[in-house]
Amino acid sequence: MQKGLISRYITFQILKSLKNEKINYDSIYLKIIKNKKISSSDIKLIQNVVLTSMRYNLEIDKILKIYVKKINKNSNSYFLILSSIAQIVFLNFKDYAVINSSVEIAKNKKFLKIYPAFINGLLRNIARNKKKLSKIKVSFSMLPQWFIDQTKNWNEKQKTNFVKTIKNEPDIHLVFKTSKDLDKFKLPSIRTTKNSLIIKKTTKIENLPKYREGVWWIQDFSSMMPLFLLDEKNSKKVLDMCAAPGGKTIQLICDNAEVISYDKNKNKVSIMKENLRRLNFQNEIINKDSLKINSRNKFDIVIIDAPCSSIGTIRRNPEIFYRHSSPNFQYITSIQYKFLNKAKNLVKNNGIIIYMVCSFLNIEGENQIERFLYNNKNFSLKKFFSKNHDINELINEKGFFKTHPTNFRNKFFIDGFFAAKLQKND
Ligand SMILES: C[S@@+](CC[C@H](N)C(=O)[O-])C[C@H]1O[C@@H](n2cnc3c(N)ncnc32)[C@H](O)[C@@H]1O
Repeated sequence: MQKGLISRYITFQILKSLKNEKINYDSIYLKIIKNKKISSSDIKLIQNVVLTSMRYNLEIDKILKIYVKKINKNSNSYFLILSSIAQIVFLNFKDYAVINSSVEIAKNKKFLKIYPAFINGLLRNIARNKKKLSKIKVSFSMLPQWFIDQTKNWNEKQKTNFVKTIKNEPDIHLVFKTSKDLDKFKLPSIRTTKNSLIIKKTTKIENLPKYREGVWWIQDFSSMMPLFLLDEKNSKKVLDMCAAPGGKTIQLICDNAEVISYDKNKNKVSIMKENLRRLNFQNEIINKDSLKINSRNKFDIVIIDAPCSSIGTIRRNPEIFYRHSSPNFQYITSIQYKFLNKAKNLVKNNGIIIYMVCSFLNIEGENQIERFLYNNKNFSLKKFFSKNHDINELINEKGFFKTHPTNFRNKFFIDGFFAAKLQKND
């Protein structure tokens, strides 16, 4: 097969899997690309086309409705057309190159039940009108029904801003071991705290200064903030119940806490080991189910960074809206609550539980905490607080830390996140 065509085949294989499987972009990408000889420029191309096809999926469906009466959204043809339109209209690639390769792929009857002449005609038509088509807008009401149901309390402004901002490329947020390390970092950046900054993506992460020396790691601003705001970690005995790939554990190590980290996912544990090694930390990570930890063990602080819908990371994981199925809220919320119930027996009296999810939906955040406090009268809510005005804006009147992807969007892009601080009182 021609070299350029291989990456286009892979692109639509990935798009097809993401539509149907409950797997995230990074995992599917590793699964499909592994064992294939692909150059780094082709990998970049595949990534760019897949992410753009998913981010503009609704706009592309709207375009398709203008030109095609009916299309099976699970057919190989659909994925080929989806990625071709993304390239022509939203990535502004050379029309003829995209059209030629799409027609070549359409000639392979093993994969596609579509006439090459149809693909040719359709894409030429679209290419002719691409300027106009690139202005097509989608509204909040076109987002998946499960999401609309979960955000009934949003006003019109929140809805419009959300739809606009989720198309943006996410920013990269680096957290440094110390503020001295940050001061030595000379690339253009926006400082977010004394030891973190945002850079606009310019190069491969591995090529950024001091990557190999291990003085910084990547962690979103929102995800870093709850532990950043937590005082008195020094020498405290801390349990991180859902630790991999390691962001929160690393923060705790840097703050001289005595951390015990658990994660039951073997692959994620290997990634975390690699992250710790690069940063020159020798800490162990225990590859076991933390819900089975013996409750005779007691900790000053228990961290729950629970599995969730990940909707707060929608910019980085556009498959959340693109895939056919919705998150399984019944399962997710039940496991989140199990972590809270387990943590209450693992924390010492006067100790703290930090509950976090990378989601801004009440069902995974506020509701879980309110239910927990109702059922456990010996726990009380402690408010997060920051002296920094902008950060304090992210703490609501109840004291929860809560961000939306729309916060700070005129300066830089952050994920949606939720965190609550609970104290055991007896
Ligand atoms: C949101 S991620 C954690 C991110 C991590 N705290 C960080 O900052 O990089 C949730 C993690 O929980 C882990 N997990 C889910 N159920 C678990 C269980 N019963 N015991 C231990 N880890 C679990 C998953 O494997 C996943 O890595």
